[in-house]
Amino acid sequence: MGLSIRAVKAADLPAVESLWEEAGMTSYASSDDIAGEITSKLERDPELFLVGDLDGTVVATVMGTWDGHRGRIKRLAVTAAHRRGGLGAEMIDELEKRFVETGITKLRLEVWADNVGGLTFWAERGYELQPDIRYFVRNLDDSSDPC
Ligand SMILES: CC(C)(COP(=O)(O)OP(=O)(O)OC[C@H]1O[C@@H](n2cnc3c(N)ncnc32)[C@H](O)[C@@H]1OP(=O)(O)O)[C@@H](O)C(=O)NCCC(=O)NCCS
Repeated sequence: MGLSIRAVKAADLPAVESLWEEAGMTSYASSDDIAGEITSKLERDPELFLVGDLDGTVVATVMGTWDGHRGRIKRLAVTAAHRRGGLGAEMIDELEKRFVETGITKLRLEVWADNVGGLTFWAERGYELQPDIRYFVRNLDDSSDPC
């Protein structure tokens, strides 16, 4: 069977967390923070937080958010065993479709500068690199966690 893409459910939390761990996307945060991110997205606007399910196993994620003006894409990950098979592209096609259906047509995302595979993926999909933008962050609580 092919990839089935659907909105995330609470029961997906462990699978999503382990996929993100495998993809190296949790190094900045504690396990509690990751669980909190998933849970708060589930409580607020889960419909753009998608998982890709292959034969009952979550093998891909992507999270869309909206700031009132632009959509943002976060957390695109495909499990290592299934990369380069077009699943990442399928996830983005579906998320873009859902963004358009919601009236959101301007998208932004961030990629670490050393993520060559990620940079190539977005360029291949027609996303335009903005070399003039620098990204600022600030942490307003007293922790030293990265933002
Ligand atoms: C980036 C990622 C989501 C791509 O998922 P994927 O399912 O492998 O991507 P696809 O198979 O749909 O790739 C589509 C095209 O993107 C490009 N691409 C994808 N991964 C690439 C890589 N590692 N190196 C170079 N080009 C790549 C290719 O042009 C590819 O087409 P091709 O295989 O016919 O050459 C996946 O590598 C991943 O989960 N990486 C770890 C997490 C991550 O970096 N996420 C992105 C954060 S912005």
